[in-house]
Amino acid sequence: MPTITCIEDLRLLAKSRVPRMFYDYADSGSWTESTYRANTTDFEKIRLRQRVAINMEGRSTATTMIGETVAMPVACAPTGMTGMQHADGEILAAKACEAFGVPFTLSTMSICSIEDVAGATKKPFWFQLYVMRDWDFTKNLIDRAKAAGCSALVVTVDLQILGQRHKDIKNGLSAPPKPTIANMINLATKPRWCLGMLGTQRRTFRNIVGHAKGVSNMSSLSSWTAEQFDPRLSWTDIERIKQMWGGKLIIKGILDPEDAEIAASMGCDAIIVSNHGGRQLDGAMSSIAALQPILDKVGDKVEVHFDGGIRSGQDVLKAVALGAKGTYIGRAFLYGLGAMGGEGVTKTLQIIHKELDLTMAFCGRRNIADVGRDILILPERM
Ligand code: GLV
Repeated sequence: MPTITCIEDLRLLAKSRVPRMFYDYADSGSWTESTYRANTTDFEKIRLRQRVAINMEGRSTATTMIGETVAMPVACAPTGMTGMQHADGEILAAKACEAFGVPFTLSTMSICSIEDVAGATKKPFWFQLYVMRDWDFTKNLIDRAKAAGCSALVVTVDLQILGQRHKDIKNGLSAPPKPTIANMINLATKPRWCLGMLGTQRRTFRNIVGHAKGVSNMSSLSSWTAEQFDPRLSWTDIERIKQMWGGKLIIKGILDPEDAEIAASMGCDAIIVSNHGGRQLDGAMSSIAALQPILDKVGDKVEVHFDGGIRSGQDVLKAVALGAKGTYIGRAFLYGLGAMGGEGVTKTLQIIHKELDLTMAFCGRRNIADVGRDILILPERM
């Protein structure tokens, strides 16, 4: 077992342990992947100001996101098919987040269901909703999230149609994988993963199988999206969701200041600046480049959260210094999960926390609440 010191170590281990179709599903963007790459490379263009001879004792990264106390301003993002990176992946990740004191967001397109995760955790988690053509089904998902005690609903607004990810098509992505020769050969090289999967019943989209009607291929994410997700989604629909839910609402997938303004005017609790991990509009700007103009427009009206490209605590610090009240990690925790199950998610959180804490100290700050744009050296343009 290699010594793990950073998220890149977890990525490499996950790559060797997770079947190719699921590793590729996580680790890819749409079309040329230019936006996916820009999400990480644009972080590198922001530099930090080092300060010295400042008392660094008694530091704290604790803060709040939508009024909930968090050990650091980092949540696990909703990611599809998490339970295919590792058996019972959503349950393991939710438990790791609970123990660490950060929010876990369960995706509509998860393998473990809302009820599976609620049954395995004590504290409330957040539920991410895709709006479906079938409003009865959408309502049913909202009611199930309420019954499970979820403390926030995260409505995704940037994926009513799916950006094309070439590898998913070439790999024949499905949950569970089809018993083709190519899959069998690849699975034979992943004995840990196979053993884990043999030990669980949770191998398909349990939030929707048995609950939704009219999908031709139950195991395919692209069929679900094309046949179930409502491409007519409007702000009026989001208002309707807000009324149906009646609790804390986060709108995920905002990349333009004008959309941010509309979302903020709806009275939601937070918006998430996101390009869906570079998986939707290839050619869109990186999330970190989109953050500042959005903060300048609505930062005083609504809590602004951020995802896209975070692979370290330094990245978290940069987004928070720009003005994000919270951030989300997707791939960073999926790599941990694929590499080492629940322990790997804990490892991801520990690595990011340590990097965040030490980097904050190098910048001369002891409390995350005191971190602002003055610790950054921003490029002319990203
Ligand atoms: C969403 O489920 C995605 O694959 O990006």
